[in-house]
Amino acid sequence: MKSLAGVVCFSIITCVSWAFVVSVPANVPQDADLNKLPKGFLIGAGVSATQAEGSWKEDGKAESVIDHLVQNYRSMYAETNEVSAEHYKYYKEDLALAKELGLTSHRFSISWSRIFPTGEKSNPNPKAVTFYKDYIQAIKDNGMKPFVTMYHFDHPFSLEKETGGWTNTTMVEKFVEYAEFLFEQFGNEVEYWSPINEGNMYCIYVPPELGASGIEHYDPNSFYQCLHNTILAHARVYRLYREKFYAKQNGKVGISVLMWPATPNSSDYKDTVAADIFNELFSGTAVDPVVHGDYPPLSRYVIDKRSSEQGLKSSRLPHFTEEEKALLVNGGPSSDFVALNLYSGYKVEYVANVSDHGNNLMANMLLQPVLSDMEHVKVLSGGTFDLLDKDLMRTALLWSYNRYHLPIIITENGYGDRKGHGIHDYESRAEYHRANIGGLVRTSNEFNIPIISYHAWSLIDVFEFSSGYEG
Ligand SMILES: *[C@@H]1O[C@H](CO)[C@@H](O)[C@H](O)[C@H]1NC(C)=O
Ligand SMILES: *[C@@H]1O[C@H](CO)[C@@H](O)[C@H](O)[C@H]1NC(C)=O
Ligand SMILES: *[C@@H]1O[C@H](CO)[C@@H](O)[C@H](O)[C@H]1NC(C)=O
Repeated sequence: MKSLAGVVCFSIITCVSWAFVVSVPANVPQDADLNKLPKGFLIGAGVSATQAEGSWKEDGKAESVIDHLVQNYRSMYAETNEVSAEHYKYYKEDLALAKELGLTSHRFSISWSRIFPTGEKSNPNPKAVTFYKDYIQAIKDNGMKPFVTMYHFDHPFSLEKETGGWTNTTMVEKFVEYAEFLFEQFGNEVEYWSPINEGNMYCIYVPPELGASGIEHYDPNSFYQCLHNTILAHARVYRLYREKFYAKQNGKVGISVLMWPATPNSSDYKDTVAADIFNELFSGTAVDPVVHGDYPPLSRYVIDKRSSEQGLKSSRLPHFTEEEKALLVNGGPSSDFVALNLYSGYKVEYVANVSDHGNNLMANMLLQPVLSDMEHVKVLSGGTFDLLDKDLMRTALLWSYNRYHLPIIITENGYGDRKGHGIHDYESRAEYHRANIGGLVRTSNEFNIPIISYHAWSLIDVFEFSSGYEG
């Protein structure tokens, strides 16, 4: 508005449009303002330990569940993560490149099996502690802020063997010990923490793979039990931080979720209902507990009902005890922000048939078993890793902020180069990030939705679980 004071009337048209502009109420941002980066907004890129570090058994690191899976299930994984991007060895060079790009935030994850090779807090690995201290220092030396994920799918394989994985509450106890150690060792240098990277994706992806590979038995009804324990682990770590570390370290701890925002295929209200069901079941089930203290009523109702129809003795969706509810919401949410991993959205429509979910390949692969609980939702298109969805950020922010009223951090947003553009990716990958950062900033400005930072996935080519080093 201020800049318009200097506008001179060259013609009637200019004068008219000027008059129109000044008549707009002052609190409605104008186009130019909509593209303005919010104050303090950080832009960066990410890596995760198991996908980037390599050096999978160097300097005292033990085997992680992901190491074990990809190295022992070669019919599924054509490539493995043993060497990866050699980020463990070359992180200084990689972080210098991030600085050269002008990035101001860097997201990475700490390898649990590097820090506690046996999974036990009584046996930390001093070389790993030194490595991550140096790593965090290198981030800062390159002018960036560290965003630290404590766990990106890769707990020690010994813990998996001992407990059978996240369906066992022992994992919650072990994770809280690990998190406490990380706060003690690194907390003075870190402002942003996300304890568990997208628990909803971990539980959909890793346990079934362990089952399919023959490494471990997998019970298809255990998805929500796994998710439930990751949510409890998150809440415990959040409370621990507030009670023991926050006063001194002053950081923020947020829940992370993989979201595939659904939008209605048409303006017919029935399709809006389908999109609501999708988002509530897929994203709401993963985030509602840490803000609202329990699962969404629709998830509770439909999963209880379908479990009973399946003849199960108890619901696939566990219940929180009163004590746990008090932990989830204790005078406020157990999350300071919502960290969204976003690639593309889905178009959905409402169908009378409760079990017709369509035959979208990605949805059937990446959304089961939640998809089967989305009654009346038919997925039509979307959900890939190389799709420029211009409404992605707008839909995700409006949904998330309206539901949780917490600041938003984009922890992953990326374009898989399946078509092999290589570095000649101006019209594919560059366009993807341009559109998404633009959408993020415009939505934030238009609706006053606080955003903290954006991270592209990934800083360097990393091991991508199902597609190896392609894409
Ligand atoms: C959970 O883990 C503990 C190890 O701490 C183990 O003794 C117990 O059998 C596990 N429970 C299940 C159901 O696997
Ligand atoms: C989706 O919406 C389009 C446009 O409104 C419509 O033509 C189509 O029939 C709808 N359903 C499907 C399955 O595409
Ligand atoms: C409903 O959809 C399911 C899954 O596509 C299909 O197997 C079933 O035959 C459909 N039922 C009816 C009544 O069309």
